[in-house]
Amino acid sequence: MTRHFLRDDDLTPAEQAEVLALAAEVKAKPFDFRPLEGPRGVGVIFDKNSTRTRFSFEVGIAQLGGHAVVVDGRTTQLGREETLEDTGLVLSRFVDAIVWRTFGQDRLEALSSTATVPVVNALSDEYHPCQVLADLQTIAEHKGSPAGQTMTYLGDGANNMAHSLALGGVTAGMHVIISSPDGFQPDPVVIAAAEQRAAQTGGSVTLVADPVAAASGADVLVTDTWVSMGQEADGRDRTAPFRPYQINDELLAHAADDAIVLHCLPAHRGDEITASVIDGPRSVVFDEAENRLHAQKALLIWLLDHQ
Ligand code: CP
Ligand code: NVA
Repeated sequence: MTRHFLRDDDLTPAEQAEVLALAAEVKAKPFDFRPLEGPRGVGVIFDKNSTRTRFSFEVGIAQLGGHAVVVDGRTTQLGREETLEDTGLVLSRFVDAIVWRTFGQDRLEALSSTATVPVVNALSDEYHPCQVLADLQTIAEHKGSPAGQTMTYLGDGANNMAHSLALGGVTAGMHVIISSPDGFQPDPVVIAAAEQRAAQTGGSVTLVADPVAAASGADVLVTDTWVSMGQEADGRDRTAPFRPYQINDELLAHAADDAIVLHCLPAHRGDEITASVIDGPRSVVFDEAENRLHAQKALLIWLLDHQ
């Protein structure tokens, strides 16, 4: 069975721990792992904008000895309605893995249904699991094992980051709190899956509407843009209801004394986070960005090893 990584709980808790341990090794010895020597190809397709994901995958694949074929999805035949299933079959004849940033999760599921090489979700409307591997690596570096720690996410609870932090966080045994305005709560189906996973790991997932209560005592505070890619013209007010959920110095003061602050970036200073917090001493956002490289290399090594 070809293993794919389409959402955070596609890795069991033990497997996620293996990938994170490998990510630390890869970071220490970036040029010692060459599973794509040849070079073997990896398809990296973007249907949405990207800075970190594009650079980290392209450089990471090169460091693994491989060659990344990086394309804008609209310039492929996908943009002219070739089926996702045929595309999965065809690309599997050329490359050893497919990395794809797209819109609906159903698109990733369709392509992976026929792909005979691993398919990696590089962000969909529903999940951003590569980002959360990097987030967990960053937490481990700054705070020790994520298990048992409290991570509070503030902002759009219905977006890809909220869903992935819930699923990936409980997989690592964290207590995940999601705090979001009315109408922007996580998908109940995702919360149910996170609760099921939490029952295996000792973690938990809780929705707490009040941002101060949610941030109080947290070990990790996380936020994300209030307007995700594809939502720019959805007509919803994504400013006024979100203001109380901004990570600013006052909210940060309610977190644990040694709390760290994460943001997957790109950030909007003055909206979801203030400049004083993101550029301040508790922020680890640029370590977090760097860890995309190491965590994704580890993920690719692991997937190629578990065919
Ligand atoms: N965090 C993240 O995925 O960044 P990019 O959109 O720049 O890839
Ligand atoms: N939620 C954001 C994440 C960007 C990396 C988006 O989907 O645009």
